[in-house]
Amino acid sequence: MNKMTLSAAIVATAALFTGAANAQVDLDAVLSIDGTTMITRAPAPDFLDIDEVISGWVYRATETQALQMDDFENPGMIFVDVAVDDWNTVEGTEGKSCASCHVGGPEEFAGLRAVLPRWNEAEGKMFTMEDYINYSRVNYMGAEPLPLAKPRMDAMVALISLQSRGMPMNVAIDGPVADIWAQGEELYYTRVGQLDMACANCHEANFGNMIRADRLSQGQSNGFPVYRLKNAKLNSIQARFKGCMKNIRAEPYAVGSEEFRALELYVASRGNGLSVEGPSVRN
Ligand code: HEC
Ligand code: HEC
Repeated sequence: MNKMTLSAAIVATAALFTGAANAQVDLDAVLSIDGTTMITRAPAPDFLDIDEVISGWVYRATETQALQMDDFENPGMIFVDVAVDDWNTVEGTEGKSCASCHVGGPEEFAGLRAVLPRWNEAEGKMFTMEDYINYSRVNYMGAEPLPLAKPRMDAMVALISLQSRGMPMNVAIDGPVADIWAQGEELYYTRVGQLDMACANCHEANFGNMIRADRLSQGQSNGFPVYRLKNAKLNSIQARFKGCMKNIRAEPYAVGSEEFRALELYVASRGNGLSVEGPSVRN
């Protein structure tokens, strides 16, 4: 970039944010689903310089919020139903479905979403939800792994996430994942792309402010997978990261890359204390 375009980009960056409509955010709005009240605001984890972590739901328009408050209105629940069928479908060389082994149903996984990603001691690797699903498919079913950030995988992640709805995120950041977490933290604060911005410029320094027609949240991941009205499907965490990087005209990392895996852990830990909301609804 030459000097002229660089200064033009900086001016454009400053003009990106407006605080005018900030007052419209009702921080005290209550998200209650099916009789369970979600924790949408919690004291921030010690490693953060902000006081409070806040769910992305708080920043959405009232109509969008309402969709998530009723499972019959939440379009994400349609995909949960699709995943229930998938759960019972026999596939692979072993002639098994998920239900053949996980006889307690998806309910067996209550609590799992809240602690992922986490270190898998047996495999010597950090596991996301997608890793667990594909591990079972490949090693126990003799089936092909599901492609990441595609409808079947996103739906299965939604079904399993739903079992932890309401439970506070509680991702470990120490021990064997400490280095991965540190890599995620560094990525979060590194400016990239033509707009020369880091995740933190929008989601830490400007949450509550408007960016063009959209109101910025803290970019939390507790609501994933997210049903977006914009593309009328479920969206995975890493697909969202990709979208944000494209928006700042950066070359996004690949879904499943070490970079996005590290970022997924780090972003999840920034939301420790917030309820699992997946599948949530966003614009
Ligand atoms: C042949 C048996 C078998 C089948 C079929 C199977 N799994 Fe598993 N699954 C297991 C075993 C065994 C574990 C390991 C439990 C452990 O980690 O101790 C496991 C672990 C998991 C875990 C991690 C659970 C945890 O708490 O750590 C998830 C999630 C999971 N399976 C999802 C699925 C899904 C989704 C399907 C269908 C696509 C499936 N599994 C099919 C046997 C199976
Ligand atoms: C130019 C500003 C900008 C930057 C930089 C940016 N994002 Fe975003 N991001 C947005 C906007 C706008 C949205 C949609 C509104 C909202 O939830 O903040 C969003 C949404 C998200 C969400 C969904 C939150 C929810 O509750 O649905 C996540 C997660 C996220 N961003 C993560 C990231 C990460 C990680 C980075 C860095 C790789 C990043 N963003 C960089 C603007 C940005």
